[in-house]
Amino acid sequence: MVKIDISKTYDFVSKEDLLNYESEVQNLYGKIFERKGEGSDFLGWTTLPEEMKDSELVEDIKATATKLRKKSEVFVVIGIGGSYLGARAIIEALSHSFAGYKSSEKDVQVLFAGNHLSEDYLSELLEILDEKNYSLTVISKSGTTTEPAVAFRIIKNHLKEKYGREEARERIVAITDKEKGALKQLSYEEGYKTFDVPDDVGGRYSVLTPVGLLPVAVAGFDISELLGGALEMKNFANIQKSLTEDPIAQYAVTRNVLYSIGKPIEIMVNYQPRLHYFTEWWKQLYGESEGKKQRGIFPAGVNFTTDLHSLGQYIQEGLRILFETVLVVEKPRRNLKIPNEKDNPDGLNYLAGKRIDEVNKMAQLGTMLAHVDGGVPNMKLTIPELNEYHLGELIYFYEMACALSGYLLGVNPFNQPGVEAYKKNMFALLGKPGFENETEAIKKKIDEDIS
Ligand code: PA5
Repeated sequence: MVKIDISKTYDFVSKEDLLNYESEVQNLYGKIFERKGEGSDFLGWTTLPEEMKDSELVEDIKATATKLRKKSEVFVVIGIGGSYLGARAIIEALSHSFAGYKSSEKDVQVLFAGNHLSEDYLSELLEILDEKNYSLTVISKSGTTTEPAVAFRIIKNHLKEKYGREEARERIVAITDKEKGALKQLSYEEGYKTFDVPDDVGGRYSVLTPVGLLPVAVAGFDISELLGGALEMKNFANIQKSLTEDPIAQYAVTRNVLYSIGKPIEIMVNYQPRLHYFTEWWKQLYGESEGKKQRGIFPAGVNFTTDLHSLGQYIQEGLRILFETVLVVEKPRRNLKIPNEKDNPDGLNYLAGKRIDEVNKMAQLGTMLAHVDGGVPNMKLTIPELNEYHLGELIYFYEMACALSGYLLGVNPFNQPGVEAYKKNMFALLGKPGFENETEAIKKKIDEDIS
């Protein structure tokens, strides 16, 4: 089970401060589980673990994944934001660090597209796909997002050219709304296999739907275990507990109290490079859920010890507006010790016989103590090891904490009205039909800015 240690925030936040929130948190849990709070149309994620586990849908996802795995050396996941980050977070957390260089017949390498508009990236991906046997999934809840739509048009054409229309159809799975959107229509016309994104689950909370589960299953990981871990956390969160026994509430409340005393930036810290995309998933979940009404804790991420040699100085001595949450994995998956060397030329014999992870853990402890001394409060979240089950727990932990935290902050954690602003300008600049007035207005604005 995920454990939390908030003792290194006590110089900044008193226990009494936290306990003051106890009844509010109970009230918020009630609102979330009874689907009565703001944005309650998007609370479908709360019951996904029990609905999905052992369901026919999960069996269908597994069977589809098996079929795709047989056909593929490479599986391309096309999607952006909540339609790819969850899958990428889990796949990278569980995969070999050098998966791309380590090809065995049963490994399927998952590659990602449609999460930006880089011409170079897409062209180079096509070069790789020329040489590989591949299949793909295109994931878009709205079915109209530009980045994945562009990538899908290009890769779909490549796939058709390579295998012919009939076989291409067998190699494409679309995950989208159950009835609306261009992708749904196209899938219907072309006869693609489809999975639905539930109406009541927003993109960033959709990792435990087919959006996350299909790519994870194609990558060869156990999605039932993932759901099992999430269910354990769900059952735990459902029980009325005092704040001192509830790590989810402790995390949500502590970050809000820190925010209220002038710490508006949270840095998620990991000491395992394979968790980089887990941090990216967390950044989207919290950034898109909380950054509203000119409020919100800014979610930043660092990979230590790497970034101690770039951002460490700022964290230690820069503006005191930061707090850190360190995600610790108790047990690494491998075992590697530092060897002894006869003449000790590099002076490292004092570490001889120690595991690399022991050194990593000392770096972690030393950094935490230094940062707390330097005025950066620190929370620690620990999971026993990186596997599907504990990742499932962690996902549900962060989702529930995000809902509590957003409500504590006074915002609706389930909408994202601000995401539309850039799209409106981009469509106006590109002359998308229906945006004629916006095109005229933006051109005028640019001309005025230049003159
Ligand atoms: O969390 C969200 O809702 C967003 O990040 C979306 O997932 C993202 O914008 C992609 O949207 P769509 O799945 O409709 O293509």
